[in-house]
Amino acid sequence: MIKSYIWPLGNRISHILMIVFFAAAYLLGDTDELLKYHVILGLAFGILVVFRIFWGFIGPKYSKFKDFDLNINSLKKYLGSVFSKGDKHIGHNPASSFAIITMFIVAILTTLSGMLAYGIEENHGIFAFLHQANYHEMEIFEELHELLANIFLGVVFVHIAGSLMDKFIKKGDAVDSMIDGYKTTYEPAGISTSWWQKIFQIVWIAVSIWFLYYLFAVKENVFVSNFNKPVSYAVLHPEFKAECGSCHITYPPFLLPQKSWTAMMGNLENHFGEDASLDEVTRISILKFLKKNSAENSTHQAALKITKSLDDTNKTIIAITKTPYWKAKHKEIDSRVFLSNKVKSKANCQACHQDIEKGMLENDLIQLPKGLKT
Ligand code: HEC
Ligand code: HEC
Repeated sequence: MIKSYIWPLGNRISHILMIVFFAAAYLLGDTDELLKYHVILGLAFGILVVFRIFWGFIGPKYSKFKDFDLNINSLKKYLGSVFSKGDKHIGHNPASSFAIITMFIVAILTTLSGMLAYGIEENHGIFAFLHQANYHEMEIFEELHELLANIFLGVVFVHIAGSLMDKFIKKGDAVDSMIDGYKTTYEPAGISTSWWQKIFQIVWIAVSIWFLYYLFAVKENVFVSNFNKPVSYAVLHPEFKAECGSCHITYPPFLLPQKSWTAMMGNLENHFGEDASLDEVTRISILKFLKKNSAENSTHQAALKITKSLDDTNKTIIAITKTPYWKAKHKEIDSRVFLSNKVKSKANCQACHQDIEKGMLENDLIQLPKGLKT
């Protein structure tokens, strides 16, 4: 038996980076405040996979897709012999060939659906141009993205289980070979890479790491840029800003549907226990402005989700903080946080959403006041 060089450095480094990027992206996927970092890691992961796919056409023998054993009968034979030492596979065995191809396809679809969701729902990144026209289909891509990411994770687990079986039951060296590059073979079977394959590997790893750095460091880059622009209510409707921003922050009109605004503006004498009444001309003018910019007429993600969360039983809600969507989004925040000196009330959105008065409810701008934790 001799040691043959099977996996060049590019394969092995990108394998480790894929594990790290995917794991980190997956773990950050559920937190709104950290969504941007989730996206950045996901994009860097996508780039690694794209390079690896090219490598499948131009790389050395065992890295080439041509060398993958994608024959259903070999897979059956391989799976039938998992508990015995069985045949030795120099490159990828049939099970890992199938797993890897599935992972590449699912990885590309996951990245793409994530970019679409980020563009359509959040109005961020390359696909932000689809936001205006498609906001009513917002959640499809988010759901698809989650499904694909979970399928990917499922295949990862199968792949890990297979690798552990190879190592501990079949006493194979597939796992070790992903670290040092070598497998033991009967005949000399090692590969060497040509000069341009070496250059390709350097570009592959360098570009992927640089891309991650670039996305972090350059705030206004096309991949994560925010296309929601701040508005000034003082300019758009000075009376609205002056009258409705005198006791509390100016709530962006897109946070409630028309029915709620009509109900609220029809009973200003008793407005959350205060008298907020206005002369009739101003009242009508503000109501018109609120209705024109209400949730129904906005493409903002929060507008759509708040409206969707209201049904016949709660359609007369006039407090944003009473809507099911708002409650769901803030349920993990301890009630003591809202009562603390720095926040004072659930309705004081600005304590945590610093640009809300400019109509900006961006994930990256969510910040609990210093010293407070959810
Ligand atoms: C006299 C003071 C005053 C004025 C003027 C006033 N409000 Fe209020 N508003 C309040 C108080 C008090 C609350 C309850 C805040 C809380 O729960 O902490 C409230 C709550 C709200 C809420 C619900 C916040 C939540 O809990 O989601 C909205 C929306 C709102 N006001 C809109 C308006 C609009 C629109 C105008 C202008 C027509 C206006 N307010 C003018 C005192 C006022
Ligand atoms: C004490 C801090 C705090 C206050 C006050 C607060 N929020 Fe939030 N809000 C958060 C946090 C934290 C999140 C992120 C929750 C998560 O990660 O799912 C959030 C999430 C949201 C989201 C979802 C963002 C998205 O894009 O998915 C919306 C919309 C929102 N808040 C609106 C409001 C409004 C409107 C108010 C005031 C009526 C308000 N919040 C008051 C802390 C706060």
